[in-house]
Amino acid sequence: MRIPLSAPDIQQEDIDAVAAVLRTPRLSLGPQLEEFEHAIARYTGAAHAVGVSSGTAGLHLCIRALGIGEGDEVIVPSFAFIAVANAVRYEKALPVFVDIEPETLNLDPARIEAAITNRTKAILLVHTFGCPAELPAILEIARQHHLCVIEDACEAIGAEFDGRKVGVWGDAGVFGFYPNKQITTGEGGAVVTEDPRIASKLRALRNQGRTDSGDWFEHTELGYNYRLPEMNCALGISQLKRIEAILSRREQIAGKYNERLQGIENLRLPALEAPRRKLSWFVYVVRLSGSLTQIHRDWIMHEMHRRGIACARYFAPIHLQPAYRSACRPRPDLGVTEFESSRCLALPFFNRLQDAQIADVCENLGECLHLAANRTSEELSANSAAGFAAGYSSH
Ligand SMILES: Cc1ncc(COP(=O)(O)O)c(C=O)c1O
Repeated sequence: MRIPLSAPDIQQEDIDAVAAVLRTPRLSLGPQLEEFEHAIARYTGAAHAVGVSSGTAGLHLCIRALGIGEGDEVIVPSFAFIAVANAVRYEKALPVFVDIEPETLNLDPARIEAAITNRTKAILLVHTFGCPAELPAILEIARQHHLCVIEDACEAIGAEFDGRKVGVWGDAGVFGFYPNKQITTGEGGAVVTEDPRIASKLRALRNQGRTDSGDWFEHTELGYNYRLPEMNCALGISQLKRIEAILSRREQIAGKYNERLQGIENLRLPALEAPRRKLSWFVYVVRLSGSLTQIHRDWIMHEMHRRGIACARYFAPIHLQPAYRSACRPRPDLGVTEFESSRCLALPFFNRLQDAQIADVCENLGECLHLAANRTSEELSANSAAGFAAGYSSH
């Protein structure tokens, strides 16, 4: 791809920080982990932070640590990355999908109560694309029904609702540091919580069920190897030092995209602001509007790829994935999820994206939209099918 969808922003100081760890004898469970956890806790305002090997591992450990298991139900969005529902299924609990609201693409609080049963144990909300979910309303529903709240903030480090960072509102919050995220540790994640019991449970679970006794061969419960190596922590510490500059650069890029794409027919642009929220830009996602549908979106995506510009369909609904056909309630009412996901298109978005590249993407997108709007469905689906058969990846 001439212009990739995402790219990590690795500077010399990041390389030096990782290399320095490699000259020490501690490559796991050492001082970098401790420092990274303190830095995450300080940044988010959380009492405790626990480093883990991925965002998915963090979500899984939250489900375990909150005692959610077989037969329990957890409310989740379907317009999300698949790890959200997988984490629930790892513990043989049932993900119950609830629709989103079209403005923020986050869980719609008005639809949550209808999905609550006497088996519901938690709401796992997602701050989609770095836009905070409707936290006060969802927390109030959870309080009334005695439910736990897990915040999936994997896409939203630094985002705020009413001036308070996301991740620290519920029982636990999870951050992800995969290379396409605002800051990266290569692979990695962190769970934050106010509750010291949850924090120590998470620490035990990520390390094979060991407690703080210091005995490497004492395992008090079934645990996992979800540890975050020292090299990854060093990278995270270094990246976190620049987070304010990174977030404002990403906000600036989103603004430049909106400026250039404004006024293009059949295109809905992401809002640069949302009431009571500070956004943390994870991806830049446009939506097709008017009479344009999934067929047009898929053709445009294929045509952009053909021109060397990566695009992706963020997100494909979880409930429509083959892996979920028999793993969720049949025919849930997810009309907004299905409509919006069929029209979403993520454009290249990363810290070092240059103005000339933004112009290049916008010019090609405008052309592709115009071409798509003037072709028949038959022409469009034949071309898209050929593109999918040839196979291309979104990264
Ligand atoms: C909303 C959301 N949850 C969970 C994850 C999983 O994170 P990871 O890829 O670090 O396992 C991701 C990320 O990629 C995500 O976007």
